[in-house]
Amino acid sequence: VLLHFSLVKLWASAFGGEIKSISAKYSGSQLLQKKYKELEKSVKVEEIDGVKLVKNLAVKMEEMFRRKAEATRRLVEAAEEAHHQHEDNPDLQYEYFNAVLINEVDEEGNNVELGGEFLLEPNDHFNNLSVNLSLSVVQVPTNMYNKDPDIVNGVYWSEALNKVFVDNFERDPTLIWQYFGSAKGFFRQYPGVKWHPDEHGVIGFDCRNRKWYSMYIQAATSPKDVVILVDVSGSMKGLRLTIARQTVSSILDTLGDDDFFNIIAYNQEIHYVEPCLNGTLVRADRTNKDHFREHLDKLFAKGIGLLGDALTEAFTILNDFNQTGRGSVCSQAIMLVTDGATEMYDDVFEKYNWPERKVRLYSLSSIL
Ligand SMILES: *[C@@H]1O[C@H](CO)[C@@H](O)[C@H](O)[C@H]1NC(C)=O
Ligand SMILES: *[C@@H]1O[C@H](CO)[C@@H](O)[C@H](O)[C@H]1NC(C)=O
Ligand SMILES: *[C@@H]1O[C@H](CO)[C@@H](O)[C@H](O)[C@H]1NC(C)=O
Ligand SMILES: *[C@@H]1O[C@H](CO)[C@@H](O)[C@H](O)[C@H]1NC(C)=O
Repeated sequence: VLLHFSLVKLWASAFGGEIKSISAKYSGSQLLQKKYKELEKSVKVEEIDGVKLVKNLAVKMEEMFRRKAEATRRLVEAAEEAHHQHEDNPDLQYEYFNAVLINEVDEEGNNVELGGEFLLEPNDHFNNLSVNLSLSVVQVPTNMYNKDPDIVNGVYWSEALNKVFVDNFERDPTLIWQYFGSAKGFFRQYPGVKWHPDEHGVIGFDCRNRKWYSMYIQAATSPKDVVILVDVSGSMKGLRLTIARQTVSSILDTLGDDDFFNIIAYNQEIHYVEPCLNGTLVRADRTNKDHFREHLDKLFAKGIGLLGDALTEAFTILNDFNQTGRGSVCSQAIMLVTDGATEMYDDVFEKYNWPERKVRLYSLSSIL
């Protein structure tokens, strides 16, 4: 569950890597331009009421964003639920439709593994790209193993998203691509479409390469309470700790005067980075942020990392802070900066955060 809370936030709003070219070619803006060009011939000029026009447009935009947000919310909920129901099984065998392997055959003309026959039809809405409107496909970066148990399990439970993708598209036919990027590295895209490797046979696209902080910023521009947990166990020595410091500093950059925060370093013990401000959250104004940045330089790595107590502390502060009516009320998050695994702390998460899921957890382990 823990990692999962980080990965649901990976619903990125834009593609990176190879897919960028696809999205540039086939994005809604181009479709719009094309539609406009078609209309252009029959357009006539008339006097308009500018204010009324803007108001109308605002209402329409609001409606459009509301519908997009709604579609995303449905996906997030389905993903959380499906992941919660799923029991990880390291031996799980599961044939899924791999975006690169679909419709590929070997020398004997048999479908290759993870390929299989995948019906595709040109679709006007997707700029005549051949797509399958009932199923999504899964892309795994070339440097990862297609059948890695983590991937297979993730792909398996996220099959539940297919019906939500389809349903979202039925409810809002202006939607274009819907997708899910997992912290494990796979990328599920709807509608299903075939991916072609570059001339070297490689698909470098990795949905995790998106800058984590842009997702985070998009996810939480409203006032927020944030507890940053930094792993300072022995494994973080050297470069990792340097990156961790920079990461924390970048997180601070994303916080503004309306936000509240604190930073806790942990190994087998928890250490408030600023011991005088223990057990509370402070306003993320410039003075406080600069003050905390100075303390960051004093961190050093040793011992073993026990995340459980740190998480418990973070949940406790967030909870207390909210109960007393301080803080931002809007949203609360824990930012986890560690190179370690986090799955074994599911129990802490369940205890404090299930089923309401009020606090969002962003795990930044993939960048270390
Ligand atoms: C999508 O592909 C599957 C598998 O080939 C096929 O059964 C299904 O009919 C296709 N759906 C559409 C809408 O083409
Ligand atoms: C898709 O193809 C059809 C038939 O070839 C064509 O009439 C239509 O304009 C194309 N649509 C787009 C969006 O390219
Ligand atoms: C926080 O402060 C209290 C009182 O000064 C102290 O007892 C406690 O050990 C401190 N906790 C941490 C984690 O530093
Ligand atoms: C904070 O408290 C308010 C009022 O009790 C509640 O509605 C809200 O969901 C809480 N927020 C979080 C993030 O726990």
